[in-house]
Amino acid sequence: MQFQTRPEILTEHVRKGIVIAGGLGSRVYPMTVSTSKCLLPVYSKPMVYYPVGVLMLAGIREILLICHPRDRDSYELLFGDGSRWGMSLSYLEQRDPRGGIAEAFLIGADFIGSESCALALGDNVFIGSRLPIIMRRAAETVDGAMVFATQVADPRRYGIVTFDSAGRPNGIEEKPENPRSDWAVTGLYFYDNQVIELASRLKPSDRGELEISDVNQAYLDAGRLRVEKLSRGIAWYDAGTPDSLFEAAIHVRTIERNQRHSVLVPEEIAFDNGWINQRQLIRLSQHCPNSDYARYLARLASEDGSEGIAYTE
Ligand code: DAU
Repeated sequence: MQFQTRPEILTEHVRKGIVIAGGLGSRVYPMTVSTSKCLLPVYSKPMVYYPVGVLMLAGIREILLICHPRDRDSYELLFGDGSRWGMSLSYLEQRDPRGGIAEAFLIGADFIGSESCALALGDNVFIGSRLPIIMRRAAETVDGAMVFATQVADPRRYGIVTFDSAGRPNGIEEKPENPRSDWAVTGLYFYDNQVIELASRLKPSDRGELEISDVNQAYLDAGRLRVEKLSRGIAWYDAGTPDSLFEAAIHVRTIERNQRHSVLVPEEIAFDNGWINQRQLIRLSQHCPNSDYARYLARLASEDGSEGIAYTE
């Protein structure tokens, strides 16, 4: 499906995004025996809503979801073809759950075509009021690659970026035993079309995966990697362990119980982006009307001159 681009969105604007939601979810076993990790709840909604919502904030309307064959029906049931949110959602399978994150660009090569593409990991949760502006800016023009980094307590768990004395990135390492920096690369990436070719040249790492860190290192070697340090106001969770899953849920709960706004509600973002109208939002709020989620949608639809999502700083 082709969509009209909103006038304020530049022509080079990244229009396509992939959410990779396969993997084994072994770190949250046995919660993943019968379902995909990214379908587990983060307080008020399935985990995968958060990366999908972040791509939507970036103005991305065409999303490919990659999952394990076992879970495809569940994801299709959850999202359908995306049209009820004014989007296009399609699905492909990753047969080897340890193929590696960078395999997304091989599986999704036809989907990407000759365009640039964003990639969001299905278990990454970003929270913060400046997200809309950061995402819009990130998607505006992609020349090379752009990733986001944030300081973490245990750098051995992540892809790590090091910087030279002038603050320029000078190395990317996946889960280093002796980290030279505590700046983790988060699971949200923007790439130009070269990513397909770079991914096709990758060799599996020692742990047998096509590593996203190797893609980023290749862009860095070519002098084409931009690293944006996430501002303090943005919280980031890799919700892949019981603790981080719990912490992300608590954060979302704290916001949703204390403020008038919920966190990364796709229907709200679609409404705010002008992809669905008030009538469609009302219709969406009529599914399970006794849920807090549906009541929130109904309130959004009924509010005259809704504040919407802040797109200004
Ligand atoms: O969360 C950020 C980190 O994510 C980055 O700092 C690392 O560079 C990156 O490699 C990744 O590390 P993780 O160890 O957290 O990746 P994990 O295996 O948990 O996979 C992340 C998501 O991607 C998860 O939802 C499952 C999915 N996945 C992963 C692999 C390896 C797939 O769908 N297929 C795969 O083959």
